[in-house]
Amino acid sequence: MCGIVGYIGKKQATPILMEGLSKLEYRGYDSAGVAVHHGDSIKMVKAQGKLVNLAKRLEETPLSGTLGIGHTRWATHGAPSDINSHPHMSEDKMIAVVHNGIIENYLEIKEELEAKGYQFHSETDTETVALLLDYYYKRGNDFLESVFAVLERIEGAYALAILCKDDPDTLIAARKNCPLVIGQGEGENFIASDIPALLHHTRDVYFLDDHEVAVVKADSITIYNEQKQTVERDLFHVDWSVDAAEKGGYDHFMIKEINEQPKIVQELIAQRVDREKGEIRMDGISLTKADLEKIDRIYVVACGTAYHAGLYGKFLIEKICRIPVVADVASEFRYKDPILDEKTLVIVVSQSGETADTLEALRISKRHGARVLAIVNAVGSSIAREADDVFYILAGPEISVASTKAFTAQALSMALICSHIALMMGHMTKEEFMALCDEWEALPQKISHVLQKSLVEEGLAKKYKQSKNVFYIGRGVDYFVSMESSLKLKEIAYLHSEAYAAGELKHGPIAMIEDSTLVIALLTQEALFEKTLSNIKEVKARGAKVIAITQKGNTTAEGEVEDIIYIPQSSWMTAPLLANVTTQLFAYYVAKELGTDIDQPRNLAKSVTVE
Ligand code: F6R
Repeated sequence: MCGIVGYIGKKQATPILMEGLSKLEYRGYDSAGVAVHHGDSIKMVKAQGKLVNLAKRLEETPLSGTLGIGHTRWATHGAPSDINSHPHMSEDKMIAVVHNGIIENYLEIKEELEAKGYQFHSETDTETVALLLDYYYKRGNDFLESVFAVLERIEGAYALAILCKDDPDTLIAARKNCPLVIGQGEGENFIASDIPALLHHTRDVYFLDDHEVAVVKADSITIYNEQKQTVERDLFHVDWSVDAAEKGGYDHFMIKEINEQPKIVQELIAQRVDREKGEIRMDGISLTKADLEKIDRIYVVACGTAYHAGLYGKFLIEKICRIPVVADVASEFRYKDPILDEKTLVIVVSQSGETADTLEALRISKRHGARVLAIVNAVGSSIAREADDVFYILAGPEISVASTKAFTAQALSMALICSHIALMMGHMTKEEFMALCDEWEALPQKISHVLQKSLVEEGLAKKYKQSKNVFYIGRGVDYFVSMESSLKLKEIAYLHSEAYAAGELKHGPIAMIEDSTLVIALLTQEALFEKTLSNIKEVKARGAKVIAITQKGNTTAEGEVEDIIYIPQSSWMTAPLLANVTTQLFAYYVAKELGTDIDQPRNLAKSVTVE
C-alpha cells in the first residue's frame, strides 16, 4: 500500500525523504512524489513508476528546503500516472497533502468545492483534502484549525501529512484507520507510515491513534485528540537493528526472510516455553483459567497467509482442546453478522497489525462483548493496541511482500497458544507438553536442514517453471499448508495454482488434470499417507506430473511420482511447517527463473490498509 514520509529539521529534506521512501518500497506502489517547503513557496516533483523515475526528475529539478513530505502511491482512485501521484496541492500551492487510505465521501465534497469554483486536476480522492483545506484556510482559520475542520468533514480511512505555504516551521499529520508514526530526533523530527522508513534516523517513536492530529516542528511534537485537547503519549523505543530491515547480502528480502526462520523459531520457543514450570509464558496476556472456562466458541479471523496460519491453529485447537473453532477470512467475517457474545474468544492474526478487514473484525467482535486475542508481529500496530490481549510472534520486520517467516511464526504461535489452553483446561498432560517442547526445540535445526538442501527446490523450479496449472494437494494439516503454498506460487511467480483437499479432487477439479499438469502433493501425515497416495495415483493416471513432499525414511512414494522432496522426520504438528519451507523455496526459485519482481510482486501491497 501507499507509503508516507515527512521531515522537519535543519538538513536538506529531499535526500531524507527519498531514503525514507526507498525503505517503504516493499509495501508496493506505482508512482511517487515529494513536496518541499522552500521558504516562501512549496515545490513539488512527482513521477509515475518506481523511485528511480522520481530521482531522475529530481536531478533535473532539485528541491531544496528543510521541511518536506513524500509519498509512494498504490493506485485506488485513478490509474497510476504523474498527475494522480501524491502530493496534491491547492491551485495557488498554499497546501500540499500526501494521503494513505480512502476518502469515502470525496465525490460529495468534490461537487461542493466545484460549485464554489475549485478545479480538480486528478482523479484522486486525495485532491479533495488539499482543496478543502485550502477552502477552510482561506476562510480565516489557521493551519491547525483548517485541518480539524477537514477531518470533521471527511469519512473513510486516512493517514495524512500536510504542509502549508504560510507556515514554514510546521508539518501536520493526522490518522484514522491507517498507520502513522512520528520519529523523534534531536532538533529534527520525522513522520512515516511505517517504522523502517525512520530507522536510519531514530528509534524513538510515537504512534498516533485514530482521530489524532500531530503538529510536528523541528524541536517539538504536540499530539491532539479529536476534542482538540493535547494528549500525552509514551515514547516507544524500537529495538530492531537497522540490519533487520536490510537485505544483508541476499538477492531478495524474501529469501533472506526464509533463511531467518530457524533463528526466529528458536527465539520464539526460548521466549515462550518455560520447561521448568511446564507452561507457556503468556507475557502480557491475562486470559485466565476462569476466562477460558467461560468460552464456548472460538473464531480465528485473518486474511491471506495469516488466515492459513489461523486454519492451522483451528485444526490444533479443535483436535487438542476440543473447543469448536470457526476460521474465517476477515473480509467475510465483518459482513456476516457473526454469532458473538461474552462467551466468544476471537483470535485475530496479522503480521502488520494494520490490515483493514482484520482490524474491523476485531472492532466488531469487541463491540459484541467478545474477548479478542491478537497474534501480531508489528509491535505497537493498531491491532496490537486495540486487542484485549496480544501475543507477539517476534519475527522482526518482514519486508518482502510475500509473507514467509511470519507464517511460520504465526503457526507456531498458534501451537503455543493451543498448548496453553490445553494445559489450563486439562487436555494436555505435563509429559505430552514436554514431548511437544522436544519437537519445537528440534524444529530450528530441521528447518536449517531443509534450507541447506535448497538446491533440490532450485532444480525442481528449473524443471517445472513452464507449468501452466499447478495443484497443491494434501489432507488434514497438509491441506492448509497446500493453501499457503499455492498462494505463494501465485503471488510471486504469477503461475496459476490451486490448493485442494486431496480427497476433493475427484469431485470436480480432476477434470482439469491433463498431460503434464503439475501436482505437488503434501504427505507429511502418516495416518493419511495411503489416502493421499491413492489421490496421487488418480492424477498420475490422467497424465499429471507429481512432486511429493514426504518425511525422510518413508520411501513408499518412490516409483509413484516424478520427484520427491524429503523433509526431516517430525511429528504431525511440525512436519507441515517443514513442508511449507520447501514450498516457499520452490515458489521463490520458480519466480527467480521467471524473472519476476519477487519482493514487490505486481498489484500487491504489503500492508493492506483498505477494504
Ligand atoms: C501473502 C501475504 C498476504 C498477507 C495478508 C494479511 O504472502 O502477505 O496474504 O498475509 O494481506 O496481512 P497481515 O498479516 O499483515 O494482516
